[in-house]
Amino acid sequence: MMNKKVISLAALAAISVVFAACGGKKEEAAAPAAPPAVAAAVSGKDLYNGKGGCAACHGETGKGDGPTGVAVKAANFTAGFKKGGDLAGVSASIKNGVPGTAMAGYAAQLNDGEVKAVAEYVIELSKAGH
Ligand code: HEC
Repeated sequence: MMNKKVISLAALAAISVVFAACGGKKEEAAAPAAPPAVAAAVSGKDLYNGKGGCAACHGETGKGDGPTGVAVKAANFTAGFKKGGDLAGVSASIKNGVPGTAMAGYAAQLNDGEVKAVAEYVIELSKAGH
């Protein structure tokens, strides 16, 4: 008789879990997800090859061999970074540019979310290594 009690309790628990799950799903569908504070409208890759114009100098694979990259000695990301190679360092290079080189700062063109997205893509390219 102890077992019977345990089983019926388990059944009750299972039923309430099912009800809770249904209720939870309905609530989820009704409430729209809150957007992140600063969201990049496009992916880092699209920014790099498109709006940002990075590929023109750094090349599609980040080797610094874009159409205008060779002439201006654009950075080859697969060879490492002169400045910081982590997200903070790469983001700073993109935002502020690299003084004394053709690398201009992008703070005016790209918002923080876009800088982060394109910085992550640059790091991804640097790790591809070929
Ligand atoms: C006009 C050509 C040009 C364009 C366009 C350009 N860059 Fe650069 N970039 C350079 C040059 C030149 C350097 C400096 C290389 C050096 O340090 O000698 C550089 C440096 C960098 C660095 C620092 C590399 C290091 O060694 O630390 C990063 C990161 C970078 N660029 C990312 C970007 C991103 C992302 C974009 C697009 C939003 C972009 N660049 C657009 C030419 C360009």
